[in-house]
Amino acid sequence: MFPPFTIAKKYLSYWLNASNKNGHGVHSPFVFDLIIHVLNDRKNEPCFQEIESIRQSLKNNHDFIEVEDFGAGSAVIKSNKRKISKIANSSLKSPKYAQVLHRLVKYFRPKNIVELGTSFGITSAYLAKGNLDAQLYTFEGASSISNVAANNFKKLGINNVELITGDFGKTLPPFLEKNIPIDFAFIDGNHREKPTIAYFESILSHCNEHSVLVFDDIHWSQEMENAWDFIKNNQSVTLSVDLFFIGIVFFRKDFKEKQHFAIQF
Ligand SMILES: C[S@@+](CC[C@H](N)C(=O)[O-])C[C@H]1O[C@@H](n2cnc3c(N)ncnc32)[C@H](O)[C@@H]1O
Repeated sequence: MFPPFTIAKKYLSYWLNASNKNGHGVHSPFVFDLIIHVLNDRKNEPCFQEIESIRQSLKNNHDFIEVEDFGAGSAVIKSNKRKISKIANSSLKSPKYAQVLHRLVKYFRPKNIVELGTSFGITSAYLAKGNLDAQLYTFEGASSISNVAANNFKKLGINNVELITGDFGKTLPPFLEKNIPIDFAFIDGNHREKPTIAYFESILSHCNEHSVLVFDDIHWSQEMENAWDFIKNNQSVTLSVDLFFIGIVFFRKDFKEKQHFAIQF
């Protein structure tokens, strides 16, 4: 992981070089619409409050759970016995990013959604509630964590989710063998270069021209920046959008040329 000072410098450089958040000067109609209808739409929805109250109760829960450590893990927590409150404070996408994922799902209406890295199911809830007709397949390695997520899905009345527990290396291949088309994926677990590229490549073969893939923490470390460079340069990616804390890629064939945007968010 980059030291906080390096991340701050990178963020400043991203912000200074990124396209204006009002879409001025963005010549791609697709990206302009994405800015106006998804990134800049800050309307509150009833489900936001429900999900945020679950997040708050996790933040107030100081019980310990025994957690198997998978992947690059969290920058903050090292031991295997972890406080629920600490995980809730350090590992989950903030409301701002979880809500933009919800709006992406609402806007693109994917049928099948994959999330790698469920944790307590907070972002999963935003994804699932973005399109109640969609099916969310969410993957979590640590069984104690996935038990908490399952309970949260119940509390929120979420029925369009399948929670798959186990190491991605063991659970993702049999899932992919089912050949379910992947219309949307959020990759938020095991933030290292090789695994991230491997997840991208295996998911890619189940994507179509209209699929949308979102990668978390693309500027978190040199490894994640390398993975992001690899992904956006893949020949099937026709458009990539860098929002600093997440990166989004598209495969649409109706763009004249491959484009990369960084957009202030
Ligand atoms: C950053 S958290 C996910 C946060 C969640 N998407 C959210 O925003 O609410 C990443 C999760 O991925 C899980 N994870 C990391 N590497 C994994 C692996 N190789 N197999 C299975 N789970 C893994 C961790 O246990 C952790 O709970």
